[in-house]
Amino acid sequence: MSETAEILSEAASRRTFAIISHPDAGKTTLTEKFLLYAGAIQTGGAVKARGDRRAATSDWMEMERQRGISISSTVLQFPYRDCIFNLLDTPGHRDFSEDTYRVLSAVDAVIMVLDVAKGIEPQTLKLFEVCRSQNLPVITFFNKYDRPGRDPLELLDEVEQQIGLRPTPATWPVGQSGDFRGVIDRRTGDFIRFTRVARGASIAPEEIVSPEIAAQEEGAAWQQALDGIGLLDAIGADVDIESFLAGESTPVFVGSALTNFGVQMILDAIVDLAPAPAPRKDINGDPRPLENDFAAFIFKIQANMDPNHRDRIAFARICSGKFDRGMDVDCARTEKNVGTKYATTAFGSERETIEEAYPGDVIGLVNTSGLQIGDTLHAGKSVQFPALPRFAPEVFATARPLDSSKFKQFRRGLQQLDEEGVVQVLRDPDMGDADPILAAVGQLQFEVLAHRLTHEFNAPTEILNADYQAIRITDKETAPRLREIGGIRILRRSDDALVALFQSKYRLQRLEADEPSLTLTPIIAGSRD
Ligand code: G4P
Repeated sequence: MSETAEILSEAASRRTFAIISHPDAGKTTLTEKFLLYAGAIQTGGAVKARGDRRAATSDWMEMERQRGISISSTVLQFPYRDCIFNLLDTPGHRDFSEDTYRVLSAVDAVIMVLDVAKGIEPQTLKLFEVCRSQNLPVITFFNKYDRPGRDPLELLDEVEQQIGLRPTPATWPVGQSGDFRGVIDRRTGDFIRFTRVARGASIAPEEIVSPEIAAQEEGAAWQQALDGIGLLDAIGADVDIESFLAGESTPVFVGSALTNFGVQMILDAIVDLAPAPAPRKDINGDPRPLENDFAAFIFKIQANMDPNHRDRIAFARICSGKFDRGMDVDCARTEKNVGTKYATTAFGSERETIEEAYPGDVIGLVNTSGLQIGDTLHAGKSVQFPALPRFAPEVFATARPLDSSKFKQFRRGLQQLDEEGVVQVLRDPDMGDADPILAAVGQLQFEVLAHRLTHEFNAPTEILNADYQAIRITDKETAPRLREIGGIRILRRSDDALVALFQSKYRLQRLEADEPSLTLTPIIAGSRD
């Protein structure tokens, strides 16, 4: 096979996706069940009692610890049917961080897990907004149907109303939530009956039952399911690939990750519905063919907080070409060569060296200093992918070194961590490096910053919450007017944009209403301002 054919065929087999959900909806359980069904682990049911999982930067770290197996905390790669799945973790599931959002720029599709008792919850909504801004196709999983919950028709309505995606159920449950017997596959009309196994430790037996037998054996539950399907047929809520790929409709699956019901159908949907990697547009808007020279972009930089492995890994998503370990690669921004000898798949106690990889795959490059989030790496002729989207910070803080003799270390650390995208550092143009304000989408980012300043830069740091409620991008024409008003600070971001921080959302709203000529641009989640 020629190298071009090899790259195209490998890329076509990749499915690169993430799971988004509100904490406790079942993301970790579903991840584990994916591994069980894909044959990557032998028994399920080990994910429980997460204890202080909040402290971990990845929910998977806890899983790794409990199972004693090595799972990359950034990407899980496993084969399923004739595909290779790359499941990217949305880190800080329990506590938001910018990394969570950035991961979504590196996937081709998303599984949205909803708890049937709760429906759409705030965190799902926020993550979904980012998916929408990137037009990501979303597959929806109504989870925990083994427990009493809400009527699935009502949940479909909620999906449509709250997130504006047209739900198109691929399966429909037989039995009410709490009395879950199986699902009807809407394509075939067959009843797929599930049998429970203890804690979902092994694959749940599934039996395909003809509609006639189902009618006899399931009685009223069957009739009710048919009524529901009749309604869906009447409104034409059928799975539609084109609108799914455009991010307009979402195939819906009903199941229970805990008891394994419906897990296999989601995995099959990822193969059958989710897109393989497609050519990514470069900054000129030209789609880069998959078979072109190797190119990738960095979407996450992770410093290992384990003192035995004090290093830094830049994670890159491959967009084109074949990666061979040790190959010559440049960073488009700096035009400097980047070492690829230490390319790895896993981050954690055990790492696996990666020898080759294809579009859709994620590689971790160890100890490559000078790389930043959003950087493009390429072989051959230079190419640059668009900058990663920025996200509106929601929490703010001040930071100062606990030991004033460590100010130099503190300043150096802050600069590096700003470049890495750990937090956003906002500086007062009149005060130089003194008294910066830190901005983030979640508190966890501040905790990581303090930890790294202390342990990597030897500058123990005190971080205090700062009482700001909103941020807007402004400009030098508007800044003097804002300075006249109390409760507003004008600061500069590392990309030189001027931002205004408001102590009161109310004051901001009034200003926007009273003086519409002022430049006060919101930072839209996922926008590239
Ligand atoms: P998360 O990663 O989205 O935060 O959720 P996670 O998978 O950790 O699941 C949160 C809780 O919900 C866990 O219970 C888990 O067992 C339970 N769960 C997940 N999927 C299902 C399901 O399909 N049905 C039911 N009934 N429960 C489900 P826990 O009480 O926190 O822990 P555990 O001790 O029961 O494991």
